[in-house]
Amino acid sequence: METLTLTRPDDWHLHLRDGVVLKDVVHWSAARFGRAIIMPNLVPPVTTTEMAGAYRERILAARPEGSAFEPLMTLYLTDNTPAEEIERAAASGFIHAVKLYPAGATTNSDSGVTDIRRCDNALAAIAEHDLTLCIHGEVTRPETDIFDREAIFLEERLAPLLARHTHLRVVLEHLTTAAAVDFVRQGPERLGATITPQHLLMNRNDLLAGGVRPHHYCLPILKRERDREALIDIATSGHPRFFLGTDSAPHARHAKENACGCAGIFSAPLAIELYAEAFDQAGALGRLEGFASHFGADFYGLPRNGDRITLQRQPRPIPKALPYGDGHIVPLRAGEEIAWSLTDDTLAPEAS
Ligand code: NCD
Ligand code: ZN
Repeated sequence: METLTLTRPDDWHLHLRDGVVLKDVVHWSAARFGRAIIMPNLVPPVTTTEMAGAYRERILAARPEGSAFEPLMTLYLTDNTPAEEIERAAASGFIHAVKLYPAGATTNSDSGVTDIRRCDNALAAIAEHDLTLCIHGEVTRPETDIFDREAIFLEERLAPLLARHTHLRVVLEHLTTAAAVDFVRQGPERLGATITPQHLLMNRNDLLAGGVRPHHYCLPILKRERDREALIDIATSGHPRFFLGTDSAPHARHAKENACGCAGIFSAPLAIELYAEAFDQAGALGRLEGFASHFGADFYGLPRNGDRITLQRQPRPIPKALPYGDGHIVPLRAGEEIAWSLTDDTLAPEAS
């Protein structure tokens, strides 16, 4: 049987939620990843160092016994985030990034930024204190076509932002287009990007052809096949500014299978396996370790993990649903197979 051993990977973009569901979600990531950048789009959003510290404690308490999984916390940027809050965040040692959601762009982004220029003081403090700015890169004008929102953001918002803040370290999150790949590749060394498994493995036909598939709906929305190909090319190229960020975003089954379903794909139970499948299909398994385990840590200025995980080419069925609080959640590939498995993984029994 073919196996693949890697330095333990990290997830540079992860939603864990809060409260009763935390325990149902954290263990999937903890079994695979050493660390994860934890998104702050809770209700209410994590806007202060104090809130981030309390959330971090709840995540640590929800880890499986003996787990060393480390949540790397983020602050939610608003129009009114004071520079002093950024200073406190940097001094905490546990906050590594600040997240910019354009107001209204996605799940729980109502308190996000309405005009990036209002944040210039906070952005200057992020650069000064050597934190990273993570960006959900989509414009939010209702009249802008949902498939164009990322590409327009690049020239209209991101280019001027990078020009105004010449020392700011920026991660453009969850790239979905060939345009974004080009923008980041041609950008400065201080500009990095994460790529999700769904955008490497699926295009918009997987969302819309032959019936609407709500479990394939996420933001930014899946794009064309030629965009997917550009993402595969760059992810498997060994370029050190493109790295793993799952954007695993759990929503209960009823919230997804709904007349107005939530955006977010739950990939945590098979996250590294999905990337292995994508890299394998591209004939580039040898490049997975850099993308998954080295480049993100290097970009954030953190040490690489010291331990390793082993994957085997062994198809494994994915349950149709998994426990999630009082209800259930449907993971990506539910009821289907994944081509790779983690050697010491045990999937919880099928929920229903
Ligand atoms: C995320 C969520 O549900 O929190 N949803 C998603 O589709 N990716 C928010 C986000 O990252 O856009
Ligand atoms: Zn996200």
